[in-house]
Amino acid sequence: EKGGFPHFTLKEIFEQPKSLRDAMRGRINAEKNHLVLGGLIEYQQKLINADRIIILGCGTSWHAGLVGEYLFEEFARIPVEVEYASEFRYRNPVIREGDVVIAISQSGETADTLAAVELAKSKGAIIFGVCNVVGSSIPRATHAGAYIHAGPEIGVASTKAFTGQITVLTMMALIIGRAKGTITESKFQELITELTTIPDKVEYILHKVDSQIKYIAEEFKGARNFLYLGRGFNFPVALEGALKLKEISYIHAEGYPAAEMKHGPIALIDENMPVVFIAPKDSTYEKIVSNVQEIKARKGRIIAVVNEGDKEIKDLAEFTIEIPQTHEAFSPILTVIPLQLLSYYIATHLVDDVDKPRNLAKSVTVE
Ligand code: M6R
Repeated sequence: EKGGFPHFTLKEIFEQPKSLRDAMRGRINAEKNHLVLGGLIEYQQKLINADRIIILGCGTSWHAGLVGEYLFEEFARIPVEVEYASEFRYRNPVIREGDVVIAISQSGETADTLAAVELAKSKGAIIFGVCNVVGSSIPRATHAGAYIHAGPEIGVASTKAFTGQITVLTMMALIIGRAKGTITESKFQELITELTTIPDKVEYILHKVDSQIKYIAEEFKGARNFLYLGRGFNFPVALEGALKLKEISYIHAEGYPAAEMKHGPIALIDENMPVVFIAPKDSTYEKIVSNVQEIKARKGRIIAVVNEGDKEIKDLAEFTIEIPQTHEAFSPILTVIPLQLLSYYIATHLVDDVDKPRNLAKSVTVE
């Protein structure tokens, strides 16, 4: 049942080319310039007219929501707030007419997310679900939604659900942007063409970096702390990389927007501190190069996820993991892959059952 893999977690990481193709199947056809999410159609106009989008989730699903914030703002020019479901439900949140809620949950059973959905509904909001488990409680409680079609995710660490969630959010943002005219038809065509190449690029990365990352994991298995830094679309990936490492290897890790370093965490840097940079060549690249230099000057051990052909960061980092280029808005789906593998391979040195880390449940149905 693990398909020849030692753990479900690794199997699910390697399933991503397929799960991403499944997320897009029947929904995108780049040649025909076609992008439709059937489950959204009935309420799509609400999204198009939304004054504000509130995204709710927990854990990894909340991280996917943060990527969603960048996507909706970039493509659809709609302001977005991303909230931990647990915080949202216990506040007295302001929900106005014109607000639309998107709830993200792999299991569709997370107690806090479900309660937040019910609360928003009681205040009159229209709610969309982005879930994996078909027929689970959250999709049943929402007005409309789109499944990510990732297939069963057994490992407690969410991997293929995260990339599936981002893919669905990307499709939503592109549909709205096209309908609103915030992206031109030619840009839309270019973007969906690129989006359909993502599963192949994920497949390429998995095969290209797997043995390199095993080696890096061996090098760093003794570390007690890690920092993950990214900017822009890859700031949420820094958070996700850190969460993956904490949860399956029990190594303390923190993710930060790279520019926040100098506001505190830089004090932690010494020759024992591994720092993982997520630094593809995007609009923030030059800024992140300076951040890499700042860490280097303090002797931090730098591992960087960069694009193929990168020179500047390669010269500075102890290890660079090279991935292909894509549109900056789609890069989280690629940059997270090496981070999933890194956590997994470090964890295999330290933890008995990577699929079931201590103290954690696959779906958190109690608050
Ligand atoms: O099923 P959900 O997406 O609602 O679950 C939310 C979190 O409990 C989940 O993402 C958790 O953080 C994962 N174990 C992270 O890998």
